[in-house]
Amino acid sequence: MLDPRVATFIHRMPKVELHAHLEGSISPSTLLEMARRNGLSLPANDLAGIERLFCYDDFLGFLQVYMICARTLCTGEDFAQLTYEVLKAAAAQNIRYIELFLSSMQHRLRSLDFAELLQGIADGRERAYREMGIQSGIMFDYGRQFGSEEAIEMAHEAVAGRKYGVVAFSIGGDEINYPPALFVEAFKVARAGGLGLTAHAGEAAGAESVRDAVELLGVSRIGHGIRVLEDPVLVEELRRCKVALDVCPTSNVRTGVVRSYDEHPVRRLYNAGLLMTINSDDPTLFGTTLTDEFLLAAERFGFTVDEICGLVQNAVRASFLPPEHKERLLADVIAEQEALRGELGV
Ligand code: ADE
Ligand code: ZN
Repeated sequence: MLDPRVATFIHRMPKVELHAHLEGSISPSTLLEMARRNGLSLPANDLAGIERLFCYDDFLGFLQVYMICARTLCTGEDFAQLTYEVLKAAAAQNIRYIELFLSSMQHRLRSLDFAELLQGIADGRERAYREMGIQSGIMFDYGRQFGSEEAIEMAHEAVAGRKYGVVAFSIGGDEINYPPALFVEAFKVARAGGLGLTAHAGEAAGAESVRDAVELLGVSRIGHGIRVLEDPVLVEELRRCKVALDVCPTSNVRTGVVRSYDEHPVRRLYNAGLLMTINSDDPTLFGTTLTDEFLLAAERFGFTVDEICGLVQNAVRASFLPPEHKERLLADVIAEQEALRGELGV
């Protein structure tokens, strides 16, 4: 049983999230509402059906459902509404800053206008900042299954999106069949355009996928990376270069890449000295929140309050914020952690 004061601390502490997908944060009711509004049919028409839809046989089965959700978003208004709702839910958890993936290719495939879509997201972000003070950045997440050619075009779109708040370029999707080597050119474009670089790797594929993402693509952050422990030399390199891992325990259990929480390597990754953060990935599709993931870390994996505070500080350090913003946010987070620990006696 978790000490209730620790649980209160986790609920109230300032948080930073680096790995959440905008489309994977859609609430079931908004999903139904948007499908109706856009005249689209979903595999389910009510909340109970959506709940069943959100159960997956395996990683690729999850990706199919994810893509269905992404494709219910059609207009700038849809993106503005979703972004605002997601940031409102984040602010309610005292998330101060969040970096959200956008599955750009899902929208390109349907010829949505990027300027309209990104303006909608920017409107949602500005409204959330104005009303709740939550700050956010957008990361273009390219679905590997769409191949290397389109990736280059999406990297150019991501660079053009900087004026709307795009801060990074990433690859996600089918890691099993599409290795990092295919995306070298796209990452060159993104780097030259001043974007931060990250990749989903070591989630569904092994440690070599992480090594290639770091060495061939030059990423400073890895989404998941839970399989790096297969390669102790790589672990040492990641530690030395301070490459951060966005760890998302519930996601890994729900997509079946890890069989159970008991087998999840989050504690071993931490003990290996890796720069690690805690994240929710696709919170509504996995039935979790960032708060839940920290509660899990404390209750199931034995993370202490000290360690939890360090994990939040890691998220500030590994973020794609400009250095001066990072310093300010880090100072605010540390001061608030200390005040809250004093108040609660934890
Ligand atoms: N897109 C949304 N969630 C993802 C995940 N966990 N891995 C890869 N691509 C994703
Ligand atoms: Zn992800």
